[in-house]
Amino acid sequence: MLPEKRRAVSSERTGPAPAPQTIDADLEFGVYVHWPFCLSKCPYCDFNSHVRRAAIDERRFARALAAEIAATAARVPGRTVSTIFFGGGTPSLMQPATVAAVLDAVACHWHIAPDAEITLEANPTSVEATRFRGYRAAGVNRVSLGVQALDDSALAELGRLHSAREALDAVGVARRIFDRYSFDLIYARPRQTPQQWAKELDRALAEAGEHLSLYQLTIEPDTPFATLHKAGKLKIPDDDTARALYDMTQELCAAGGLPAYETSNHARPNGECRHNLIYWRAHEYAGIGPGAHGRLAVDGCRRATATEKRPEAWLSRVESGGHGFVIDEALTREEMADEFLLMGLRLAEGIDPSRYRALAGRPLDAQRIATLREHGLVEMTADGRLRVSRAGFPVLDAVVADLAA
Ligand SMILES: C[S@@+](CC[C@H](N)C(=O)[O-])C[C@H]1O[C@@H](n2cnc3c(N)ncnc32)[C@H](O)[C@@H]1O
Ligand code: SF4
Repeated sequence: MLPEKRRAVSSERTGPAPAPQTIDADLEFGVYVHWPFCLSKCPYCDFNSHVRRAAIDERRFARALAAEIAATAARVPGRTVSTIFFGGGTPSLMQPATVAAVLDAVACHWHIAPDAEITLEANPTSVEATRFRGYRAAGVNRVSLGVQALDDSALAELGRLHSAREALDAVGVARRIFDRYSFDLIYARPRQTPQQWAKELDRALAEAGEHLSLYQLTIEPDTPFATLHKAGKLKIPDDDTARALYDMTQELCAAGGLPAYETSNHARPNGECRHNLIYWRAHEYAGIGPGAHGRLAVDGCRRATATEKRPEAWLSRVESGGHGFVIDEALTREEMADEFLLMGLRLAEGIDPSRYRALAGRPLDAQRIATLREHGLVEMTADGRLRVSRAGFPVLDAVVADLAA
């Protein structure tokens, strides 16, 4: 998922003052660019996405995105960019020239590594697939497609504007144009049985390149799905069925050569999304565009940034003040350490306890680790990393809460 989905840090936070930190010198640096517009709003989605009747003035947005990149680069100059990710919303509604202008701005203010991963999130409609060549020419080298389901009635219920056939055709276009592609599916959908999901997942694995994102449907507050669910009009699988669907996902993907490297993400070796690894490994990233979050290493502190969410208000802020930041604050040791656990334990590789100690200023609680190990929920690897076990992943939130408390 995306940075703006993650915990917001209050700008009015009280509590211990941030302690200046020694930030690791070898952090990778990624740039997230948010495009906040969609053709229609899917009823399950609570991302920062907006539908506009009038045409979007893309040149104006591109200028504002470039200005925010310049303002961010002034704070963290000299970085080498390992990854760039255009997320949304629906970035595949952007004209390739807009994408090119943003990439030019990144290149103008930072050094882009020759092997940088440059991903764009795309909706799999035939219209959007016609733009893929333009994105490739602009410098994008990886696409992530929101296929969501391979069943037309499920797609209709999810409010999607494409059929399964159209989505698979878009995957085919992506395969021909890009070296690397991924697609997303949502499972544990209304009335979905393990048999149906197994069939769908088999098909997905046959179409997959090196990466798949498989998300369990979450009923997000204040969405049309939440209203239907509350009214008893949307029945999602019960906990036991959801668990069976999850277990089946792990097994089929591992057998198909794409084991989970993160709770919801599966890849062949070296096919992992390098950009998302930057979030999960608590490296450094700039958040550009409406509602984007960043984590920047400035003067030895790790700073949390977030921009104005509403697209037009963001635009005005950038045009008048040069950037749209509404949050920009140093994280305390506790916050950095908690975030490191929360993100890092999602990964199959787990975390390095010595980095936790450096961030928190104290080690993880040995007694708690011992208890979790006795329950088979975490394990230590031969090289001293702490990771969540297969049995622990379904109760990951509880494991993290226990270690962080
Ligand atoms: C930014 S969104 C979508 C990108 C693109 N606009 C699309 O819809 O194809 C990234 C992914 O989050 C997942 N997602 C969004 N809302 C979700 C929810 N309520 N439950 C589970 N997955 C969700 C979808 O799989 C989606 O493709
Ligand atoms: S198209 Fe994607 S971002 Fe837009 S509303 Fe649907 S799921 Fe959300």
